[in-house]
Amino acid sequence: MSSTLPARLFRLVHRRKVEALAGIPGPPPSFPLGNALDFLGKPPWEVFAGYGRAYGGMALAWIGGTPVVVLNDPTLIARVLGAGSAGYYKDAPGKALEPVITKRCLFIANGDDWAYRRSIHPARGEVADEWLASVVPTLRDAVASGVRRLAERNPGGVDLYDGLERVAFDAFAVAAWGEPLGDGAYREFVALGMVGDRRMQPPSQSAPPLCPMFYADRRRWYGRFDGLIEKARREADPSRTDLLARSLRRNPDVPRDDFRDLLANVFYGGVFSATSGLVTALYLLAHHPAEEAILRDQLKGLDLGSPAVGPADLDACPRLGSIVLEALRYLTPVPLMARSVVTTRPVELGGHTLPPDTKLFLTNWAIHRSPDLWADPDRFDPGRWESGGAEAHPIGGPDFFPFGQGARTCVGMPFALAYMKTALATIISRHRVELDRSVPYKATYFFGVMIPRGLKGRFLPVGPLHADAPEDSDSPVG
Ligand code: HEM
Repeated sequence: MSSTLPARLFRLVHRRKVEALAGIPGPPPSFPLGNALDFLGKPPWEVFAGYGRAYGGMALAWIGGTPVVVLNDPTLIARVLGAGSAGYYKDAPGKALEPVITKRCLFIANGDDWAYRRSIHPARGEVADEWLASVVPTLRDAVASGVRRLAERNPGGVDLYDGLERVAFDAFAVAAWGEPLGDGAYREFVALGMVGDRRMQPPSQSAPPLCPMFYADRRRWYGRFDGLIEKARREADPSRTDLLARSLRRNPDVPRDDFRDLLANVFYGGVFSATSGLVTALYLLAHHPAEEAILRDQLKGLDLGSPAVGPADLDACPRLGSIVLEALRYLTPVPLMARSVVTTRPVELGGHTLPPDTKLFLTNWAIHRSPDLWADPDRFDPGRWESGGAEAHPIGGPDFFPFGQGARTCVGMPFALAYMKTALATIISRHRVELDRSVPYKATYFFGVMIPRGLKGRFLPVGPLHADAPEDSDSPVG
């Protein structure tokens, strides 16, 4: 350990906590910020991956006087999220997000309350399976018209993330709630999201938001969903195929507020992360035209315009799914997960005793690029998922978990995958996305999601692949 004055002062002031975690290697902390300065100007997932490289799969960092155990080791992460999960709970970002997504949301629930919410979640079970089997045409039409609008209104190009976030919002609205929610709802969604995101930044906030506008937006946001539930109940239209109508038909007695908040969370759960994955895929294809050509070629065999097109049809176009998986591996949208040791007892992990309520960050970022687990990990290579590749690295396994692992695996994973595949197929079969390839991939962290910003793209009507298509570039990530 370093013995500068700030380092000695740190150990003196936090002696009990330092001793309790002695033996876990990590960057030397200084008084008063601990290792917080490491995060200045760098995405947290890269800082955590760096700790993994320097100190191993279990490292100790300090954010101010709070110790944080950083896990980059697939076996230890699998233990925390899987067999040993009873020793942990979800603390962060619960208090920060509760005013936005509400305490009824599965994402921040714990214990029996979590089990109850998971059991009634509309995105799980038979109703959800039927919905997913029929949702592709809905998503296709919403994406097709959303991207057409983007192209018409922005002939000179549009920020890909911003434009496609709105497309996802509208597509999710129709698929889950049965109708587009419009500009007002989107504004509320963004405004509430920004409040949630600000509250997640350190020092994370637990006091209620002060701004009266927040409460007005939240009232309108959840009020819309009350209105849609009432309407669906009143009209009981048997031809509706959206998740709201299907769920009410099958489970009319689920308590309304629980149901509303779980289904409303399809937006905060998935719009940012699925758009991140989609933009990343488009970005990577723009840098790998040979891959795009393979996809375009395979899409010729897919009758995407059919009213009955379904998930099996998408799967018959293997490169589509492979590109989505490879984008989720290569630049994973949710690179960090947080857990805390239960407050009632210490737990043993990796040969160390972690005191009650110790905070942990689990990251898939470095694991998804580990040379120990992947051949040529820094190469964007969708073909790796074919001929047994997907079976060798199952989604949710210890070396590939873009949607988490274990009992708390993302409840929206099947829908998110269906959306990303449908959106990618729809965009690529109708447009060529022209990107300035000199613009590097730059990500910010928003609402727990890695968001690619600043990628301006033009959606050009698709034509035959040009013989002078640009060559694949080697290192697309700046
Ligand atoms: C590409 C898109 C998505 C990605 C990468 C993603 C990623 C994740 C990850 C990593 C977790 C685990 C968090 C943890 O263990 O702490 C998670 C949980 C969750 N996700 Fe997603 N997600 C996506 C889309 C969605 C969608 C569309 C929904 C909407 C239904 C959703 C709703 C949830 C919920 C409710 C949880 C909490 C589950 C629980 O704790 O039982 N996600 N997601």
